[in-house]
Amino acid sequence: MSKDGAPGGGWAAHPDVERVLLPAERIQARVRELGLEIARDFAGRRPLLVGILRGAVIFMADLVRAIPMEVRMDFMAVSSYGTSSRSSGVVRILHDLGENIEGDDVVIVEDVIDSGLTLAYLRETLATRRPRVLRTCTLLQKDSPAARRVGADYVGFVTPNEFLVGYGLDYAGRYRNLPYVGVLRREVYAGGAEPDGGEGS
Ligand code: PRP
Repeated sequence: MSKDGAPGGGWAAHPDVERVLLPAERIQARVRELGLEIARDFAGRRPLLVGILRGAVIFMADLVRAIPMEVRMDFMAVSSYGTSSRSSGVVRILHDLGENIEGDDVVIVEDVIDSGLTLAYLRETLATRRPRVLRTCTLLQKDSPAARRVGADYVGFVTPNEFLVGYGLDYAGRYRNLPYVGVLRREVYAGGAEPDGGEGS
């Protein structure tokens, strides 16, 4: 394994990434811990994990395999209205769950809490559908008052409020398949979105 977290023969450090914040092994180790924690908390149940497209796909795929018990999976897609750099706070469901969740144990799975608007909306919306239990899990929570206020039941890492890419997080659709989380070079997004904006994460 190279020092940027790329597996041998896999990704080298990406030239647009200023520094690797969370190497792949560190993410994998934390995902295993989160999986065991969720398994303990839902022992004897069959929780429904709801991944939020598209950013949470990579985390979701690793997380479900780290939960050593039966789980169900579904996905939602949402989008925030607003300019490319600022979320307006209005969230719209683009793709909804396939089933009724009344009486279910549900865990919303996100890649990052940034402004917190998306997760706050999802929590509120899914709560109205009367699940038995509704929890939230995020790989990353930005270290900002807004993100802290919303919070999540399971948090992988609290990160600096910088422009992060990789492991599902994108900028303009790029970098999602980097196996690590890195800080994007400012020159790449300069003139575009800010770190705490709604575009990218
Ligand atoms: C990102 C991320 C979260 C949301 C977090 O999604 O995946 O869903 O933003 O930001 P917030 O806390 O400020 O609401 P994005 O809208 O970029 O779509 P994507 O998942 O397809 O990348």
